[in-house]
Amino acid sequence: MNVQSFFIETFGCQMNLHDSEKIAGLLAQRGMVEVGSAEEADLFLLNTCSVREKAAQKVYSRLGEVKKRKGAHPDFLIGVVGCVAQQEGEDVVKKAPFVDLVVGTHMVHALPDLLDEIQESHRPGPRVSTRFLPGPSPVEFPEVARQSSFRANITIMEGCNKHCSFCIVPHTRGKERNRPGHLILEEIRRSVNQGYVEVLLLGQTVNSYRDPDNPRFRFAELLEQAARIPGVQRLRFTSPHPREFQENTLAVMAEMNNICNQVHLPLQSGSTAVLKRMLRQHSREEYLELVDRFRNCGRDMALSTDIIVGFPGETSQDFEQTLSLVEEVQFESMFSFKYSPRPFTQAHSWEDDVPEQEKTQRLMALQSLQREIQLKIHGEKYLGQNFEVLVEGMARDKVQRFGRTTSNKIVNYPGNESPGTFIGVDITKVGPNSLNGQRVERFQHSCP
Ligand code: SAH
Ligand code: F3S
Repeated sequence: MNVQSFFIETFGCQMNLHDSEKIAGLLAQRGMVEVGSAEEADLFLLNTCSVREKAAQKVYSRLGEVKKRKGAHPDFLIGVVGCVAQQEGEDVVKKAPFVDLVVGTHMVHALPDLLDEIQESHRPGPRVSTRFLPGPSPVEFPEVARQSSFRANITIMEGCNKHCSFCIVPHTRGKERNRPGHLILEEIRRSVNQGYVEVLLLGQTVNSYRDPDNPRFRFAELLEQAARIPGVQRLRFTSPHPREFQENTLAVMAEMNNICNQVHLPLQSGSTAVLKRMLRQHSREEYLELVDRFRNCGRDMALSTDIIVGFPGETSQDFEQTLSLVEEVQFESMFSFKYSPRPFTQAHSWEDDVPEQEKTQRLMALQSLQREIQLKIHGEKYLGQNFEVLVEGMARDKVQRFGRTTSNKIVNYPGNESPGTFIGVDITKVGPNSLNGQRVERFQHSCP
């Protein structure tokens, strides 16, 4: 058996996408080549998400499809990594006995050794490795195969010490582990030297970062030092927790213009009663105070959020509170979800008492309100204005290009610039989800 090529398919969040970049780097170091599909690969890895049940179910249907390749290619290896691997461990092999490898969230660095074992023993799996590692910091990955040519995803912390009653992440990712600050800053410098112009700092509760070697070096200090690295033209971070914004974080964000004027503030619910049961550690009022702090920080920050509808016990009055908060804050974008009971969470034992149809109706009402708000914001704040846009690639229509403003708005325009180019765009047309414009030679402001 000679495992020479691999293909990774990724479900889920930016943290997962970045884990796949780390895995691709590891396998490339081992001399393996990344190919464009499972059908061409010796090794197929599915990097999985278990945050909602649908995502977790998708894993098994996808595995079932990929399994077919084993018929003609008995040496073809299938591996499951990430959150479902962590959550289900041996059960993955019980449900899908053709799987050769199950590797949890703390163990991806062991993939090359596991592959060697499989090769040497001539026994294709299954190998299951889902241990949580002790220690204050996650394993370092010296070679990251970045998918983007202009945006460097950089892990600053992993795991979560919160206990939101709906969320499986603390179970699948484990306790908070922070990377030493000097290693993070070194990785940023290296990326900039390689030509990356945007840096995205990643962590499950990114703003609770604390240097394991120096407890006074926290998120604000890291953010400032990262922003001061010459060549970092855009700096973003995700996902913060509303309770973890130190005062000086806002001050750093206000001062450093290369920190993008966009911040994600996951809300989950506009009702204090629901927030309490969600164990979110803040009330509606405290959330609104945080929004005010950002509104008054000296820069125009585009706010985005996550919302769950149909959490156990959510009454129609609770849901009205979510709508009214959304109306009040005027988020520039939103991810919204129907509540999905997850194992290993507190809320799992509570009755999932909002009927599916009601959840769907609430989700539709919320999304339709949000569409109106976005259309309004796009008309008032963006239409007819000129923005700096960082080109990302081909637009959905396969004719135009698209890029983003620093406020994270997608802008489509006719042109042929390569990804990573900064251009000026006059916005000529707006829809609820994106903006359209024309490239112009000059651009005056990168705000918003
Ligand atoms: N801070 C974390 C949040 C992870 S989950 C991070 O970014 O890593 C991302 C979003 O999924 C949450 O903000 C929440 O809105 C949603 N979510 C989490 N658990 C959920 C569940 N059980 N049902 C529905 N949505 C959920
Ligand atoms: Fe999940 Fe809450 Fe942590 S949403 S990742 S438990 S902050």
